[in-house]
Amino acid sequence: MIRPMAERNGTSAFDLDTIVNLCKRRGFVFPSSEIYGGLGSTWDYGPYGVELKRNVKEQWWRSMVQLRDDVVGIDAAILMHPRVWEASGHLATFTDPLVDCKVCKRRFRADQLDDRDCPNNRKGCDFTPARDFNLMFKTFLGPLEDDSSVVYLRPETAQGIFVNFANVQTTSRKKLPFGIAQVGKSFRNEITPGRFVFRTREFEQMEMEFFCAPEEADRWYAYWREERRAWYERLGMRGERLRMRDHDPEELSHYSSKTVDVEYDFPWGWGELEGIAHRGDFDLTQHSEFSGKDLSYFDPAQERRFLPHVIEPAAGADRTAMAFLLDAYDEEEVRGDKRVVLHLHPLLAPVKCAVLPLSRNPDLVPSARKLADSLRQIAMIDYDDAGSIGKRYRRQDELGTPFCVTVDFDTLEDDAVTIRDRDSMAQERIPIADVGAEVLRRITQV
Ligand code: GAP
Repeated sequence: MIRPMAERNGTSAFDLDTIVNLCKRRGFVFPSSEIYGGLGSTWDYGPYGVELKRNVKEQWWRSMVQLRDDVVGIDAAILMHPRVWEASGHLATFTDPLVDCKVCKRRFRADQLDDRDCPNNRKGCDFTPARDFNLMFKTFLGPLEDDSSVVYLRPETAQGIFVNFANVQTTSRKKLPFGIAQVGKSFRNEITPGRFVFRTREFEQMEMEFFCAPEEADRWYAYWREERRAWYERLGMRGERLRMRDHDPEELSHYSSKTVDVEYDFPWGWGELEGIAHRGDFDLTQHSEFSGKDLSYFDPAQERRFLPHVIEPAAGADRTAMAFLLDAYDEEEVRGDKRVVLHLHPLLAPVKCAVLPLSRNPDLVPSARKLADSLRQIAMIDYDDAGSIGKRYRRQDELGTPFCVTVDFDTLEDDAVTIRDRDSMAQERIPIADVGAEVLRRITQV
């Protein structure tokens, strides 16, 4: 069970560059294709970043699928039949208004310009009229590059769920209300990507479509609003940096009658982590019509047939991982030195425990390596014997490793080790035989 984290020492907010630098320095996120100068707004996750993002997705999957009896998962293909995007409305309406500045030659989203001044060239700007730009990436299926072979990289994972509604419902024998969840890559040819991994052209979504009777939809909408906000807080995100923002009517997507965003207080202001949308029966109606297949549901209790309504919590894995990093980052003064520490929830921390021999002494290294190998059976472990013990503690603090276990010369006599807590820096002596159980207990009982 996940419980809220203990109180933290610091509450200060840090700017985005601090986090981007930490990510590069410590192997969380690198600019993509960096040796070729990078590719605009694309990022690669390094050894610690990939673990963090996997943990975010894993915790989402645990809470949305595995710990519930009313949600099942799928993993649909990224390439889908092109008619899907006609039916969903993405071909006609998934557009942003694009303007070019004829002076600085840069492109902007017309709806993001505060006024008619070009942000790059505040005087003498000269914009083209706005034109609609479809955000879907196009490619070709097979060797022929003509109109008949055009397919799209999916701009949301949701449609893979809608087109599988009947398959999943009949094979899982789920009765309404129930949900179908999916985690996977989506692609949008964003006009103005940026702010690190906040807005990119390739990203991962964590989406769940919850199907219910029309008259129950408002109740489930209220339920998922609460549940989704609580998920971030259970994993340690500060409540005061989260808010729920209802969409104004003119902001709503073409499929939605109401939507609320879970927003995080990023260094540049509030930004969306997740949207919870009331999609009504828009998608199942459209796919029934375009495919010619009946996607209605028969309710045996009420002896009636209808198209289910849908409540959709849709989150981004990259943004969420970034928000957890920002929220966890702290700089503290410890005995006159600066300590950079990520107070990540242990379930999210890339490494759960580091095993550190006091030195590279040949009597200590084999015991420490043996302990690290046995702990690998239960969690992600780092072994590190390079440099002073103090520097190694600091390195693990910067990675957010919640526990360090030190093997010292006394270990050879008493078969005990020192376990150090990242947040309190308190150290405790425990029998080496108990380390596995103790680490597991501490990870799951925060
Ligand atoms: N199926 C509904 C849907 O896709 P959305 O609000 O467009 O809704 C859901 O996307 C989530 O996906 C967003 O809240 C955000 O976290 C993430 N997301 C969307 N576009 C993104 C982008 N260009 N880069 C990174 N994450 C993005």
